[in-house]
Amino acid sequence: MDIYIDTANLDEIKRAASLGVLDGVTTNPSLVAKEGVDFRTRLEEICQVVEGPVSAEVVAIEHDAMIAEAEPLIQIAPNIVIKLPCIEEGLRACKTLSDRDVKVNMTLCFQPLQALLAAKAGAFLISPFVGRIDDVGGDGMEVVQQIRQIYDNYSYTTKILTASIRHPQHMVQAAMMGSDVATAPLKVIQQMMKHPLTDVGLKRFLDDWEKAKTLLVKEPAMA
Ligand code: G3P
Repeated sequence: MDIYIDTANLDEIKRAASLGVLDGVTTNPSLVAKEGVDFRTRLEEICQVVEGPVSAEVVAIEHDAMIAEAEPLIQIAPNIVIKLPCIEEGLRACKTLSDRDVKVNMTLCFQPLQALLAAKAGAFLISPFVGRIDDVGGDGMEVVQQIRQIYDNYSYTTKILTASIRHPQHMVQAAMMGSDVATAPLKVIQQMMKHPLTDVGLKRFLDDWEKAKTLLVKEPAMA
């Protein structure tokens, strides 16, 4: 499963990239607004750090305006992926851009039929927002499962990008269900490498090693 980081914070992206397991980046208007930086400049900076897909979202909600907004973004770097919302105009814009071989990430997906249409329109990525579905009492991961089944039934090549991830269990479930990609905040990516027994076990090894060293100093081996 590919792992993307879901942030527009450059330090977090560099930190995740330094782990050697980062495959891409997703941004959205809320994440960019939080940084208080120029959108284009930040995307240029991100693309210098990460070679994999970098999602850049348009804020227009009408086909022609979406395409016009996408044009300068596409020029930033070859790894830019245009992020469009799962609405009718977004679907039409997805088809227009995909027909031009521009990669599209269809975002704000909350049910499997949106994913089916996105695949038919040639989307490169579909982003089910699992955390937000959970937030309103639904089962976000069930939607991922449904999309996986539909895509497998018809051999659609659109990649499932599990998004709105809140905790490591979402990552476990995404990987077990065959989500192609999961995008998560830095905190969750770091949590993936953590287990309390690893910390306890490591401390015990290091303590034992210290004791062994003391014994070796006190009782040097006979020549
Ligand atoms: O990038 C979109 C998505 O991951 C948003 O997550 O936490 O705002 O629901 P969240």
